[in-house]
Amino acid sequence: MTTRPLCCLNGRVLSLEEARIDPLDRGFLFGDALYDVVRVVERRILRLDSHLARLRGGLERVDIDAPTSLDDDCRQLVTASQLETGYLYLQVSRGVAPRAHEPPANITPTVLILAVAHAFAAPASRAMRAISRQDYRWEHCDLKTTSLLATVMGKIDMRDAGVDEVLFVGAGGQVREGGSSNLFVRQGDVLKTHPADGRILEGVTRGILMTLAEQSGLPCSETPPLLEERDDWQEAFLCGTLTGVQPLVELDGEPIADRVVGPWTQRLAEALETGNAESS
Ligand code: PDD
Repeated sequence: MTTRPLCCLNGRVLSLEEARIDPLDRGFLFGDALYDVVRVVERRILRLDSHLARLRGGLERVDIDAPTSLDDDCRQLVTASQLETGYLYLQVSRGVAPRAHEPPANITPTVLILAVAHAFAAPASRAMRAISRQDYRWEHCDLKTTSLLATVMGKIDMRDAGVDEVLFVGAGGQVREGGSSNLFVRQGDVLKTHPADGRILEGVTRGILMTLAEQSGLPCSETPPLLEERDDWQEAFLCGTLTGVQPLVELDGEPIADRVVGPWTQRLAEALETGNAESS
């Protein structure tokens, strides 16, 4: 069954040709919008509650009224589009208003949901290579904003380097996260990942993997992996809704852990996949 290129705009299911966004939409003019991405497998929307909770929490922080219909809109779109495997992209902008930096108080948000067919790489099947860049993003990386120019600049460097991800690194060498993924590193008997302190997006996948690791006997520490300790990384992997869990085997042209896919990378990738099959 092929997916019909449909979207849901302000509660109405439309073809992409029919859907029209106002040029004065603040999402377009200012990047005044938040988004989220949820995986769809065999028409099931995975962990929609967790993604909507993050989106709603973010909208509250930036003073955008969270629409109540998001859950229904997502389900309506999956049914109408016959999306089997892929993802939903949800974006909520502050809405349409004459252009001024200061937003008007009472404004109706614009809600756009896209249904996108996508074939996901199998767990731990894709040896990923990355470059590092100084983190020139802002201090609110926990807000999943559509203002992603800094990330896009990193992704251009990544593309030009012919690799798969850009890792953003703090001034003290703390490896924060990928441009669109979180990072885990195993050093000895501890799995490290950067703390959720506003310098990273607190990934839904990251949270699940921390629980899975603990349950499987590998303690997790929210401690930033350090670039200067990279020779001590016994394995490293990237994770996210679209990424799943994939091994990171090279950074800035140098191998990580001899490019071998680590046992915990494999194990957690499979545990996540099992969880995907069970979750609704
Ligand atoms: N991005 N960090 C960043 C900067 C991200 O953009 C993402 C996901 C993640 C992983 O978060 P989660 O596990 O909740 O998907 C971490 C999405 C998929 C995107 O921008 O397309």
